Amino acid sequence: MIEIITKLRQDFDSLLESASDPKQLEQIRIDFLGKKGKLPALMKELRNASPEEKPQLGKDINLLKQHVENKINSKGACLGTKSSKKSDETFDTTLPGRKELTGTLHPITQVMEEITSIFFGLGFQVEEGPEIETDYYNFEALNIPKDHPARDMQDTFYIEDETVLRTHTSPVQIHTMENREPPLRIIAPGKVYRCDSDVSHTPMFHQIEGLMVDEGVSFSHLKGIMNIFLQEVFGKDTKIRFRPSFFPFTCPSAEVDIQCVMCSGKGCRVCSQTGWLEILGAGMVDPAVFKAVGYDSEKWTGFAFGLGIERIAMLKFGINDIRLFFENDLRFLKQFPNL
Ligand code: FA5
Repeated sequence: MIEIITKLRQDFDSLLESASDPKQLEQIRIDFLGKKGKLPALMKELRNASPEEKPQLGKDINLLKQHVENKINSKGACLGTKSSKKSDETFDTTLPGRKELTGTLHPITQVMEEITSIFFGLGFQVEEGPEIETDYYNFEALNIPKDHPARDMQDTFYIEDETVLRTHTSPVQIHTMENREPPLRIIAPGKVYRCDSDVSHTPMFHQIEGLMVDEGVSFSHLKGIMNIFLQEVFGKDTKIRFRPSFFPFTCPSAEVDIQCVMCSGKGCRVCSQTGWLEILGAGMVDPAVFKAVGYDSEKWTGFAFGLGIERIAMLKFGINDIRLFFENDLRFLKQFPNL
């Protein structure tokens, strides 16, 4: 069998030398390496060799195979064939193409954009503010002095004594009023931070602040705007209600509930059997806030509101764990094609 191997190698070498185009080279490849080629046949012959001869013969055949493959590949490169190994594979031009994978906006971004465009239609402009805030803008100017118990309502991340990660978007009210004269209608979407984490709370979440200041602005304007906005987001039949509440920067203050979108007000686990879901905080701007920014509270009145985007997205899409928004699991994110 050793003679056969040596002879095969000589035959191959001389055939390869005489090959002058890719077609001839391909024929040599098929003759030697193809399914019914000389080398596979030799491998089959190995079965008949004695157990003592087998290891050495197997090694020799493998060396020959390597020699054949290497030589064909390097000659293929010289003759301009791409890969002699794969050249018998066919390319089916009738197969449908691979679909281009397109990303979608994150569900929170989608809801944020939807809400922003509703308020845009109501004449509100978008304002932005820093996420790292001073104690003054996050608390003091909003009528929350250092020893005020309301500071405990929001678990604050302190960077330094007087510097915090903003706990709400309300400081944008102050920045805006310091820089602009009334009348104004603004919304301020953005990230806020609180030391808080469970199925309905995350340390970073998104809020949209709203502020309208003008002559003669009253609580009924606030109710009207909230009604329009919530019916746009949750549907025309959505009922809303105002409950008395407390925020140091608004007076009177209210929390706004919508009729539970899961059970239509009948009472379920999501709304703790009450039929209502809290959606945002709001109220008339406290004169102390106007004083801090130098507005005349005898002349101007205004309302403000602040809502959590994740809360709205959870209700809109029926999601029961807020943390899903931030795990970047594509199986979850793919369920939200752009609105
Ligand atoms: C405020 O932050 C006030 N600044 C809102 C406001 C603005 C009231 C203007 C009056 C006038 P509150 O702490 O309730 O309020 O937060 C508002 C919303 O943020 C809540 O209704 C809730 O939806 C959302 N929220 C609060 N904490 C978290 C959290 N850790 N994770 C996710 N959402 C949260």
